Amino acid sequence: MEQTLKGKVAVVTGASSGIGEATARELASRGASVVLAARAVERLEALRREISASGGLALAVETDVSERASVEAMVERSVGEFGRIDVLVNNAGLGLSGRIPEVRAEDVRHVFEVNVIGALNCIQVVLPRMGSGGRIINVSSVVGRRAIPKVGAYCASKFALNALSDALRVEVAERGVSVTSVYPGTTRTAFRENSRRTKDEKRGWRPKGVSPEKVATKIADAAEKGTRDVYVSVPDRLFVAGVTLFPHLADRVLRSWAKD
Ligand SMILES: NC(=O)c1ccc[n+]([C@@H]2O[C@H](COP(=O)([O-])OP(=O)(O)OC[C@H]3O[C@@H](n4cnc5c(N)ncnc54)[C@H](OP(=O)(O)O)[C@@H]3O)[C@@H](O)[C@H]2O)c1
Repeated sequence: MEQTLKGKVAVVTGASSGIGEATARELASRGASVVLAARAVERLEALRREISASGGLALAVETDVSERASVEAMVERSVGEFGRIDVLVNNAGLGLSGRIPEVRAEDVRHVFEVNVIGALNCIQVVLPRMGSGGRIINVSSVVGRRAIPKVGAYCASKFALNALSDALRVEVAERGVSVTSVYPGTTRTAFRENSRRTKDEKRGWRPKGVSPEKVATKIADAAEKGTRDVYVSVPDRLFVAGVTLFPHLADRVLRSWAKD
């Protein structure tokens, strides 16, 4: 059921940069009180001041989503300040470049700690505070629908996140809580620079990508409507449809990319 965000309380993880920062701004502009959660607390504070200056309500909380105690403290502060949580946007995430035969297990473990266990921590701590009409929005990726070469372990973390979303959606449906998976394609943020990498590889072709604001608008729409799956652009939808219908052809096309 569609609902307005006015007076709602939304937690956005990874709000210090890129898609999370734009999402926090968008949710605040639609009337939600926003909890800004990430590690870079100065950046969160700057965003909090900006939102407050434009008449919104925000709280900046230094949070490492991979640490359960840190998530618990963030949720305690959020509920203490705003009384409840209606929307959780699990956006915090980290990339990892490296071919599967070479990628380091410790890097894969770290990326799973943030991208999968981080989201799980937030879901498990927030859910008991969430009533009917609650929204959980997990930011996955188009490469969580079809893994591509040179970033396979990162793709695996997004496949794992989708699995959590699909099981949870059914488990909490009776409680009136919706679960959304968002599948952005390339988005113009600092994501690539912030990614871990196994070794320097030539940068292959990449689409120009969309702005983080475009992704944020889709996320905020999903927070209002409780949409199941969210694609950001038509090419993203076509990519997923194509690789689903023609998996062998997709392998062949991706082989040329793996050669670079
Ligand atoms: N950009 C793309 O092309 C693209 C495409 C598809 C999906 N995505 C997904 O979109 C999400 C946002 O990425 P982005 O593009 O906005 O990249 P970004 O600019 O690098 O932002 C990543 C955010 O995650 C936060 N983060 C990382 N580790 C964290 C931790 N342990 N605890 C809390 N926060 C943590 C970072 O904050 P701190 O460093 O301050 O903690 C930062 O705010 C990610 O889940 C990513 O996988 C991105």
